[in-house]
Amino acid sequence: MIKKSFNLESPDGNVKVKIELDKSISYQVYFGDQTIIKPSSLSMVLKHDLIKDNLEFIKKETARHKEVWKPILGQKSSIKNDYNEEKIMCTTGLTQVTFVFRAFNDGLAFRYILNADSDMTILEEASMFNIDQKVDAWWIPNDWDSYEYLYHHTKAEAIKEVSTPVTFKNDQGICFSIHEAALVNYSGMALKGMSGGSLKSHLCPWPDGRLVKGKKEIITPWRTIMIGENESKLVESDMILNLNDPCEIKDTSWIKPMKYMGVWWEMHINQSDWGRHNSRHGARTENVKRYVDFIKEHLIEAGNSEIGLLVEGWNKTWDGHWPDNYNDFIFTADGAYDDFDLSEVIDYCKKNQVAYIMHNETGGGILNYDKQRLQAYSDYEKLGIHAIKSGYVAGGPMKDPKGLHHHGQYMIDHYNQAVIDGLRHKLMINTHEPIKDTGLSRTYPNWATREGVRGMEYNAWSEGNPPDHTTILPFTRGLAGPMDYTPGIFDVIMNDKYRVHTTVAKQLALYIVLYSPFQMIADVPENYLDADGKPLTGFKFIQDLALDWDKTCILNGQVGKYITTARKTKGKDEWFIGSITNEESREVTLSLDFLDEGIYQMEVYKDAEGTDYLTSPMSLVYEKSSVNCETQMTLKLPSGGGQAIRLYRQV
Ligand code: NOJ
Ligand code: CA
Repeated sequence: MIKKSFNLESPDGNVKVKIELDKSISYQVYFGDQTIIKPSSLSMVLKHDLIKDNLEFIKKETARHKEVWKPILGQKSSIKNDYNEEKIMCTTGLTQVTFVFRAFNDGLAFRYILNADSDMTILEEASMFNIDQKVDAWWIPNDWDSYEYLYHHTKAEAIKEVSTPVTFKNDQGICFSIHEAALVNYSGMALKGMSGGSLKSHLCPWPDGRLVKGKKEIITPWRTIMIGENESKLVESDMILNLNDPCEIKDTSWIKPMKYMGVWWEMHINQSDWGRHNSRHGARTENVKRYVDFIKEHLIEAGNSEIGLLVEGWNKTWDGHWPDNYNDFIFTADGAYDDFDLSEVIDYCKKNQVAYIMHNETGGGILNYDKQRLQAYSDYEKLGIHAIKSGYVAGGPMKDPKGLHHHGQYMIDHYNQAVIDGLRHKLMINTHEPIKDTGLSRTYPNWATREGVRGMEYNAWSEGNPPDHTTILPFTRGLAGPMDYTPGIFDVIMNDKYRVHTTVAKQLALYIVLYSPFQMIADVPENYLDADGKPLTGFKFIQDLALDWDKTCILNGQVGKYITTARKTKGKDEWFIGSITNEESREVTLSLDFLDEGIYQMEVYKDAEGTDYLTSPMSLVYEKSSVNCETQMTLKLPSGGGQAIRLYRQV
């Protein structure tokens, strides 16, 4: 066959893709005049076929797509989906293979569509990403069962096996990040560093070594390369969401953002226990009511609606060995411990306008969960519950079915199905120990948020998360989608052994920097109050905090060093700014030129002079002033510190 070349460009012409087909296929990617991906081949090993150097060209199709859509919940209220597409259809004789490429202004995506006469099995996917080995890389090691790691910063050449998103920066400051979108009916992808400098897709296996068990048609997830002239542009990209299908349901009125508290941190800091096996059970009716009273007095009466309350350890079998009880958990409404009266608690929540959040910890017992799940969902719906936090702590692969990985095809089907079933029962879902986000919240907007990150909990019982962790997350994990990091700890010096490695001002700023439409007010109620029972200064920021946005702008930032994020509240002339730094103190300058004309009131929550994350980290200063779109500001961020700002019109 004569070598064929196809050229694809983003609508603004800045992202260019050159595809070459000559029995085998390869692609390369440029951003402006810079090469981002050098020629990289795409191939697959199927059980019945090898898709490699046996391709016969059939035809190609090009398309231009332009739409504007509105996410139900999101970082912006209106999203442009604008790309050029090239479909290259080939056959090996046994398999028809269509390579679909989409070039956006902020990156490139490609996927394979395979068709055969009988069901297919994938034994290997070899999508190559041949990048410059000297670029900087921020990554977590691949583990098919967890993303709860601290990030490494190395040159790309040091990569052995990493989870995605993995983010890179070249000498000119151009940034790009490799991930995937629309992960459905497939296995999760990690990347392997190969000799010669390429990265290769690496799929999570089934216990028998197969990677994907497919039907006569397999549509792979999109392999994505987000590209920006700096790291801030990556954070502002909507490419991952744009590669997913539109929302499937009509009535979305019940899908709402939510602040929530939890009978949760008290267990993590060992004030109480999940289990009923001793006298320290946290989920006791009267203890739970204490949280409801706090929410009513300090949030609902302060004008908040949609405040949730999560109660962990409510159901039988949370004893001292709870992860081993994966087969015994009861999820239906009749499974509550005898010192926790579920209907009384729910009535009390309703009376006080608090939304009860059901907790479903599976302990890795998927068959046990799936056996009960639909009945449990229907019980919850009858009780008027609209949100679930689910959990998959298994300390490795699933317990039952044994050996299946969190990031493998079986579990991806499970996570996706749980969300689809949730839609039918009007349940929002916050998945812990999840599969990574690949933008499916566009299709299933009830997938409100998820963990898949080394979150706040690590500060409670380990050496914790160092100050730079949250300055890396927006540029890496955050590119995938919302994260339930659970900020808001006010007692950051918990005890002699464990502490949170930030100031309180930085805790507030994290609410803006780390996007999630569900945000936890993670500390125990008493830590938000002074000796007279009045809320501490910073609590007003939490009361005022918005969760759903018209606009999001990254005002400045460098991976691992600092970031300043500004968000405009949906439907309101109000902005919030969060700025955080790593362990280095620094000054960042801001221009408020994103504001409309006229005067805004500004409330600033900042670290007191002489404060840093090790020295009196709880000293917070509140200041109020008037500003306008010409105001220039310099924020002083001490080591491990931050600043949280609210801007609003005087009424
Ligand atoms: C791990 C989750 O991340 C955490 O939030 C939860 O409290 C425990 N599992 C128990 O389910
Ligand atoms: Ca976790």
